[in-house]
Amino acid sequence: MMHAGGEVPSITDEAIDAVIAAGRTERQAVVRAIESTTDVAFTWDYERNRAPLAKLYEKAKHSQWNGTHDLPWSIDVDQERVARELDGGGASRRFTALAQMDGSPLRHWGEREWTRFAVESQNSMLSQFLHGEQGALVCTAQIVETVPWIDAKYYAATQVMDEARHVEVFARYLDEKLSGHYPINPHLQALLDDIIGDTRWDITYLGMQVMVEGLALAVFGAIHHMTEEPLLKKLLRYVMGDEARHVAFGVLGLQEYYTELSASEIRDRQEFALEAAVRLRRRWFQPDVWERLDVDPRPVVKLLLESPPPAEQVFGAMLFSKIVPNCRKLGLLDAGDGWLRQRFTELGVIQFENAVDTGEDYGTFDEVAKDRAGAQTR
Ligand SMILES: [Fe+2]
Ligand SMILES: [Fe+2]
Repeated sequence: MMHAGGEVPSITDEAIDAVIAAGRTERQAVVRAIESTTDVAFTWDYERNRAPLAKLYEKAKHSQWNGTHDLPWSIDVDQERVARELDGGGASRRFTALAQMDGSPLRHWGEREWTRFAVESQNSMLSQFLHGEQGALVCTAQIVETVPWIDAKYYAATQVMDEARHVEVFARYLDEKLSGHYPINPHLQALLDDIIGDTRWDITYLGMQVMVEGLALAVFGAIHHMTEEPLLKKLLRYVMGDEARHVAFGVLGLQEYYTELSASEIRDRQEFALEAAVRLRRRWFQPDVWERLDVDPRPVVKLLLESPPPAEQVFGAMLFSKIVPNCRKLGLLDAGDGWLRQRFTELGVIQFENAVDTGEDYGTFDEVAKDRAGAQTR
C-alpha cells in the first residue's frame, strides 16, 4: 500500500467502483482458451550436464506421493473451527477494526456473521489455491515443451505430475470438506494469462516458479502453522514439500540463463517481476465474498482504501519473504543500476532480501522422505 508518511488519499466513488469491478469475477465459460505462440524446443543433446537439476530430478522421483492413499480423507472436518483458526486467512482481524468505524456496514455484526465471513473467506482462499495450482499445471506442461535443456525437461515432467496431484487434492478438499467453490480472482487470472501467453520460456519460469510458487510456499506455510485440522495440515505439508522443489527449479534454471541476457532484456524481467508482485499483492478486496454475505461491498472497500489494514501488510510480508531473496539470487535486484532494488525499497520490502532462500531449503521440506524414514524405524 502506498500510504507512506500517513497521508490518506481521498477516495472517489469512481475509484471504489473501479476496485470492485476489477476484483469481481464475472461468470465465465467452463473452458478459458488463451492464445499462446511459444516456440516448442526439441533438443538432441541428451548429455546430463546440469548436475543441480539432475539432483532435483532424482529427489522429485523419490518423493512422489499419492493423494488418494497418503492423506487421511476419512477425517470429519469442522469447517467453522478451521475457519476460526485461520481467521479467514487473516482477514477477520482487519475487518473487525473496520466494523468500529463510522459508516461501516459491519457495525452490527455478531458472532454468527463473523463466523459466516470466516467460512466464506476460507472457501474463497482455498479456491484461489486450487486455481493457482491449475495455473502451475498448465505452465509446467508448457515448460516441458519450451525449455531447451534435457535435464530441465526431465525435471519439469515430474512437476507436471506434482501439480496434477495438487489440483486433485485441493479440489477434493473443497468438494468434500468445505462448502463452496469461488471462481478465479481476476487479478490472479490476469497474471496467469500473462505468464502463459508470453512467448519467452524464462518468463513462464519467472512468473510461475519464482513469483506465484514463492507466494504459495509462504502462504501454505502460514496456514499450516495456524490450523490444527489434521487433514489440511498433512495436505499442506506434502504440497509444500513439492512446492519447495518447484521454486528451487525456477531459481536454478534462471540463474544460468540470466547471465546470458542483455541489459535491456534483464530490465524487462525486472519490470515483469515487479508487476507480478504488485498484482499478487493487490487481490484481496474480495467483493464476491461480501456479496455472498449480502453486504454491499462499496462502503467496505471505501473504508479499506482509506485505512491501510495491518493484515494486508502481513500478507505482503509473506508474499515478499520468498520473492525478494529469489530475485536477489537471480541477479535481478542489482542489475541495471539496481532498478528493482530501488522499487522494492519504495514498497518497503527490501529487508527480505536475505530471508531464507527456497532454492536451498527444499531438502528440509521433504515431508514424504521424512514420513518414510519414520515408518521404517517404527
Ligand atoms: Fe503446486
Ligand atoms: Fe508448484
